[in-house]
Amino acid sequence: MSERKAKDTVDFSVEGGVAWVKFNRPEKRNAQSPSLNRRMLEVLDELEFRDDVGVLVLSGEGAAWTAGMDLKEYFRESAANGLAGVRKSQREAYTWWRRLRWYQKPTIAMVNGWCFGGAYGPLFACDLAFCADDAQFGLSEINWGILPGGGATKVVTSLMGFRDAMYHAMLGENLSGPQAAAAGLVNESVPAASLKKRVDEVCERLLKKNPVALKATKDSVRRVVEMTYENAEDYLIRAQEAADSFDPEGRTEGMKQFLDDKSYKPGLGAYDLSKQKPKKRA
Ligand code: COA
Repeated sequence: MSERKAKDTVDFSVEGGVAWVKFNRPEKRNAQSPSLNRRMLEVLDELEFRDDVGVLVLSGEGAAWTAGMDLKEYFRESAANGLAGVRKSQREAYTWWRRLRWYQKPTIAMVNGWCFGGAYGPLFACDLAFCADDAQFGLSEINWGILPGGGATKVVTSLMGFRDAMYHAMLGENLSGPQAAAAGLVNESVPAASLKKRVDEVCERLLKKNPVALKATKDSVRRVVEMTYENAEDYLIRAQEAADSFDPEGRTEGMKQFLDDKSYKPGLGAYDLSKQKPKKRA
């Protein structure tokens, strides 16, 4: 196949409040090349503050979610340009992963297939992750002679227990979808035929939640992991107060619909956002 244009390395569409973003180099198992990394940042930028986007789902075209970093274009060709080339390529990748970790909207990794090495950066960057039972997860770096860099070692020590992380990193053996779910790499593994449906359901539920509260919540989960209890307690007070200032109506409406209107129960579902004074998704 002729060389894919840089613009086409990422595909996206917006439907019903959900941005469906796809790694789109199926002929290279969606390996992350410098041009894909640059294009992904542009796409994330374009979608982040759109009012018609409430959730972003990241999946892959073809058999792979992403087979990690592109060994030819990301590693070998960058190295040919010396340290400057290596650092440039690293920054391009790490920048979009970081953008995704702190994205304004909730994010879901929909892992449809191969998920190796450098895939763990975006996997961890997504708030939630669902995979197909026949997806394969692996830190393959050890198999070609390097350590799992680009944050991948940090990802497995964050998501898995110590012994599991050590085994996963040292042995370079793959986990199936159900094994990845049991290890904590993803929330759930489902048969491939049900993956889109399950992710649709989760999107639908997220779209009904207060978007300011969602952003405050997802950031809080990531932040408090590295804090002492005292610092976390303080951070959460400040984060809620900041959210209140962005969305003064939200909690008032949530309490009113429960306490006065008796139209819903917070223990059983979300309040009706449509009754809240219209506000741009923030
Ligand atoms: N970097 C660069 N090219 C890659 C790639 C990667 N990470 N993963 C796949 N490709 C390319 C192959 O070189 C091949 O290119 P070609 O058609 O020009 O020869 C093409 O994608 C198809 O790959 P192939 O190995 O034939 O597909 P497969 O379905 O038999 O196997 C994998 C799929 C994912 C198991 C296998 O491609 C693989 O092991 N990839 C490397 C995974 C890895 O170590 N990633 C970590 C990087 S940090």
